Amino acid sequence: MIRSAFLTLYARQQATMTKKGLDDMISFHDITKQFADQSTAVENFNLTINKGEFFVLIGPSGCGKTTTLKMINRLIEPTSGRITIEDKNITEWNRQELRWNIGYVLQQIALFPTMTIAENIAVVPEMRKWKKAAVEERVDELLNMVGLDPDTYRNRRPSELSGGQQQRIGVIRALAGNPDIILMDEPFSALDPISREQLQKDIRQLQADIKKTIVFVTHDIDEAMAIGDRICLMKDGGIVQVGTREELVNEPADDFVKNFIGDRRDPWDTRVKEVMNPNSHLLASTQDISDYPLYPAPLYIFKDDRTYVGRQAEEGIVSNDPAIHPEDTLKHALKSFDNTELEALPVLTGSRIEGVLSYKDIVQFMKKSQLEQEGELV
Ligand SMILES: Nc1ncnc2c1ncn2[C@@H]1O[C@H](COP(=O)(O)OP(=O)(O)O)[C@@H](O)[C@H]1O
Ligand SMILES: [Mg+2]
Repeated sequence: MIRSAFLTLYARQQATMTKKGLDDMISFHDITKQFADQSTAVENFNLTINKGEFFVLIGPSGCGKTTTLKMINRLIEPTSGRITIEDKNITEWNRQELRWNIGYVLQQIALFPTMTIAENIAVVPEMRKWKKAAVEERVDELLNMVGLDPDTYRNRRPSELSGGQQQRIGVIRALAGNPDIILMDEPFSALDPISREQLQKDIRQLQADIKKTIVFVTHDIDEAMAIGDRICLMKDGGIVQVGTREELVNEPADDFVKNFIGDRRDPWDTRVKEVMNPNSHLLASTQDISDYPLYPAPLYIFKDDRTYVGRQAEEGIVSNDPAIHPEDTLKHALKSFDNTELEALPVLTGSRIEGVLSYKDIVQFMKKSQLEQEGELV
């Protein structure tokens, strides 16, 4: 009895916590940053980054990415507005504790040259006064995590590592104190393309394993697309659009977004409504039907204002053909053709027929997309 009352209470509490946004990790509320010379780096910035999210800030040089990032760990103080971490204003945190709880990776590889790799990684755990054995264990664990053998690397100096390896150390050093949040400011942009791609994969894998909240700044759209759960595109100190890569690609907010990300649409992700034929010759009203020869079928018939009646076939009117929805993707629509011999299917919204989609429409659309893409390559 007590147990069940407790469980009910617990469930209720969970429900309200979720409603209040238990997943919010970092929130910007009306943040503006003006520097002393009166230049406005960030203006009226509102954004929520979720717990465990791989969040990317992207935009042209000077749009305010670094300023935004540095306000999270209070390297820069906003002029107005407030930033909360787990619903607590960051000004209420002890600054030291805030920095320990937020790992920070810079573009320039910033390892201490005279210290060993192990000493470099151990900086924050040492400051937090971890026991020696715990520090050593942590160093080895982190080196293993990024595929560097501890026995080989722990006593080397930074100059004895390649650029890619050094930046790998930069990343795990930021993780060493087990922070909840990791900020990364163009961490891979000084690396050669191969190390860069490898590190992108590593960091994605690492994040999947450790589930930290990562805020990652880049000006490279390919990098953003490769690693971000969500991407925030900035311009002139403001947000242009926030969304998943699919949302940015398929529903760009404006031409700036479109131009910034380039045309990356997979033609198979195009919506049926853009490809179907709303005035197909296979479509007829009950009023016109006497004008059509009975065969060849199919003929899709509607009455009144496009209320779907069915397909005229030898055996009479068939009204249970697989139907396609105008918002379906072509990829999805193609599956509807699998169990039928038909070369065209009705596109319906409820009982309304919006058009007809035929194999021929799909093939012509694909041909056009391919020609457009080839044109872009020239
Ligand atoms: N310390 C500063 N003093 C004055 N202006 C600055 C300072 N830091 C950055 N800015 C200006 O603020 C704007 C945003 O800079 P920043 O956040 O570094 O952009 P990003 O990282 O996107 O390249 C730029 O116009 C930059 O010149
Ligand atoms: Mg910057």
